[in-house]
This record gives sequence, C-alpha cells and structure tokens, in this order.
Amino acid sequence: MTQPQPKAASVIKVTDRNGNKHELEAVEGWRVMEILRDYRMGIEGICGGSLDCASCHVIIDPKWADRLHPPREDEIDAMDELPLVEPTSRLSCQILWSDDLDGLELTIPQEV
Ligand code: FES
Repeated sequence: MTQPQPKAASVIKVTDRNGNKHELEAVEGWRVMEILRDYRMGIEGICGGSLDCASCHVIIDPKWADRLHPPREDEIDAMDELPLVEPTSRLSCQILWSDDLDGLELTIPQEV
C-alpha cells in the first residue's frame, strides 16, 4: 500500500519593487494581498480588502491575466486613484488564491 504524498504547495512568483524575484508559498483561500503582506513584499493592504485604498495594486503577467476572474466595477473604480495603471493591473485583495493559480506571476509596481 502506498502512503499518501503530501500535497506540494502552490506558489506565486513575485517581482518586487527592486526587481528581485521571489517564489512565495501560497495558501488556498487566502487573498493574494494577504500573502504578499505576510511575506513583507511591500504590500500593506491598508483597508483590509474593502476597496478603499488601492495599496494592494499589482500587475499580473499578461499570460495569466485571462486565467483570473475579471475585475468587478468597484475594483476598476478603486484603481482610478492610482497614478499608473497597466492593462493587467489588479487589486490583489480581490484575488482569492486557489491552487489552480499555481505559478501565477505578478509584479509589484513602483510607488509614485
Ligand atoms: Fe485596500 Fe486592496 S487592500 S483596496
């Protein structure tokens, strides 16, 4: 009889504001903002995910953008406050991690 193998952790691939690359272990059910904040990637998540701060702004690698659910209108409205928005910009508090996102690549943009 074979032993059950421990499930491999899923990872987020992050480029930080200094251009350094990281692979962060991600936990299903957590918001991407929470994962980035807890790994001290410079994401504060000031409003706790209520779309009031946009401090959790990330840029999703274009090859992943279509694999995420599209942003809701209130997320798009919250990004209006940002000085620089890319076509694949998202607020990471609105992305709930699931293991099918394993390998997701994103960049934390420079603060302006
Ligand atoms: Fe405030 Fe995402 S944490 S908008």
